[in-house]
Amino acid sequence: MDIERAKILRPVAEPRVLEKAYTDDQHDRLLDVVRRNGPWKLILAHHFQSAEELIATTSGMVPEGVTPTLDMFLSPVFRGFFSYNQVCLYPEIQDCFYNPGFLDRVRDYWKAEYAEPEGMLFNIQGPCTGGGSPHLDATRFRGITLDNTPVWLMNTMSKSGLFKRWQARKAQVIAWYYKGRIGGGFTYWPDGPHEQPKQIHAPMWGRAVVVENEMMFHTAEACGPVSQRMPEGLAFHSVMEPDPDGPGGWRITTDGQVIQRISEEEFRFLVHWGANLYMDFEELQTALDHTDDLTHERVFDVLLEDLRARGETFDPPSDPLTDKDFITRLNDVYGIDRPLYFPPEPEENVAA
Ligand SMILES: [Fe+2]
Repeated sequence: MDIERAKILRPVAEPRVLEKAYTDDQHDRLLDVVRRNGPWKLILAHHFQSAEELIATTSGMVPEGVTPTLDMFLSPVFRGFFSYNQVCLYPEIQDCFYNPGFLDRVRDYWKAEYAEPEGMLFNIQGPCTGGGSPHLDATRFRGITLDNTPVWLMNTMSKSGLFKRWQARKAQVIAWYYKGRIGGGFTYWPDGPHEQPKQIHAPMWGRAVVVENEMMFHTAEACGPVSQRMPEGLAFHSVMEPDPDGPGGWRITTDGQVIQRISEEEFRFLVHWGANLYMDFEELQTALDHTDDLTHERVFDVLLEDLRARGETFDPPSDPLTDKDFITRLNDVYGIDRPLYFPPEPEENVAA
């Protein structure tokens, strides 16, 4: 690993842990929205239209000679949205979304003058491996967003450190509710992927962290009994919903068949709230008035110039967005795929 470049992948400030991120009443209302409005799809199913598309998209990510299968990517974690972009979808939780306390915290975290809520979603799950391997959350840049640019390019841009001037300043307050006794925490690399990780440990009830997850590797810790972490019959279109037969419990179904029941004790609920930050009024204006937006042309000019300065030789691509050799080269130069150090897996025998 290129240690100098790994140092780029650090959040703007040390993540800050807080307790009781939401009041009991807010938590009850958030959970009530989740219970009344399901069933909820797998996280994977939000990002891909079908299992076929998922496999086609990820085939470059497995070693040569290995044919990717759906099982390699399936993880029983389900997701839904409390907001559509910056608009809260449920009036009964609008105090959680338009959250003055959180806005204060993220402004202070960034030492920025202005903040606005950017989005709010939740993950729900029962037992699961640490399958969501360490990753950075998708970022965006002025003029360069998911609407016009593939994720790989935006990831390369953040890992290169060359586009800081245009990168959206973001922060999240991520809160967990999990009573289980095996794992279920949060693992993160606040000092960079070349340093030791830190962990926030479960059980937790409203414990939260203020972070910049676009610039910090992080992942959920495995949780629950090992034998229940991959329910048989899990499929791309499986869903999770309240279990009518178990108070406080949940169930996962595939084509209407129940494949797993999850007790209240093993239910893990993550609430993700995100904000946009602007250091001062000038920056706010520049962002909203689009007076300093990037274009693809500018992005590739910056990247090509940097490659040349590094002494990399290459044929200038005619279409850099699709040129496979060029994309591989960018990944070789700027890619940082995995942290160096991992904490031990949670022990099941501590569950006694
Ligand atoms: Fe994430």
